[in-house]
Amino acid sequence: MELTDKIIVITGAAGGIGSACARRFAAEQPRLLVCADLDVASTQQLATSINTSAGREVAIGRHCDVGNEASVKALIEEIAATYATIDIYFANAGVSVSAGPLDGDEAWDRAWRINTMAHVWAARHLLPAWLDRGEGYLVTTASMAGILTSLGDGAYSTTKHAAVGFAEWMAITYKADGIRVSVLCPGGINTPMLAGLIGDVEKAAQFIGGGDVKEPEEVADIVVAGIRDEATLVMTHPVMTTYMERKVADHPRWVAGMSRLWQRQKHLLEG
Ligand SMILES: NC(=O)c1ccc[n+]([C@@H]2O[C@H](COP(=O)([O-])OP(=O)(O)OC[C@H]3O[C@@H](n4cnc5c(N)ncnc54)[C@H](O)[C@@H]3O)[C@@H](O)[C@H]2O)c1
Repeated sequence: MELTDKIIVITGAAGGIGSACARRFAAEQPRLLVCADLDVASTQQLATSINTSAGREVAIGRHCDVGNEASVKALIEEIAATYATIDIYFANAGVSVSAGPLDGDEAWDRAWRINTMAHVWAARHLLPAWLDRGEGYLVTTASMAGILTSLGDGAYSTTKHAAVGFAEWMAITYKADGIRVSVLCPGGINTPMLAGLIGDVEKAAQFIGGGDVKEPEEVADIVVAGIRDEATLVMTHPVMTTYMERKVADHPRWVAGMSRLWQRQKHLLEG
């Protein structure tokens, strides 16, 4: 699908990948770009900066808490009522929570609502209009942690696996109805999330072991190409395909190898 003349919503638009995608999408001349985030002040600054560069009012900033169904529903309904049906909804907001089973349910619930249920809730409130008109595009951000794993964050890995599973299920179930689905699975990307987790990019590159840490602007180009190609799985790091193949080809070996990697690298998370 081309982005030109489309009404597009991006969640997590104040963050690294979301704001880079908003700027990149703006270059494709959409009809409207809705930049949504918990941090509404940043989305409004982003919208102003996009509008100044574009020389027209193309972007708006909105508050949305994607971890709350009523907030997701209100955003979708506001755009439909004020403008028209959303063409492309990019459920990009996500959180890492560094939680395992010894941590309480609070962290698990937060990860579950933001990393997984936000995608389900968006689909729930977008699908009726999309099915009526026979077209709609859901893009979600999961992670390579949703295909491989996330060393040190069980809740992130689990909820991102669920996000990949949901996107694949949506693509399979609604393809014949004209609904397109892409799931972005980034490797290490230089954003506040990665910096907050590991401290700095150099450490992150060692920790992830998936090659280089990419810039959000590179991801934005990859996302635009993925939407244009209507690719279900959109990856940022080609080397990750090899890791996926190794995981499937010899699962016991993959688990043993990842376990050794965790033992070698876990000190990086500790300070
Ligand atoms: N950075 C990486 O290395 C990496 C790797 C794989 C996947 N991802 C995924 O990419 C997506 C974007 O991450 P990023 O690296 O840009 O992170 P980031 O922390 O820079 O940005 C995330 C944005 O989401 C917003 N957000 C958080 N909770 C929200 C909520 N409940 N409602 C609305 N907005 C909320 C934050 O305010 C922030 O602006 C996430 O889904 C993340 O899990 C990132």
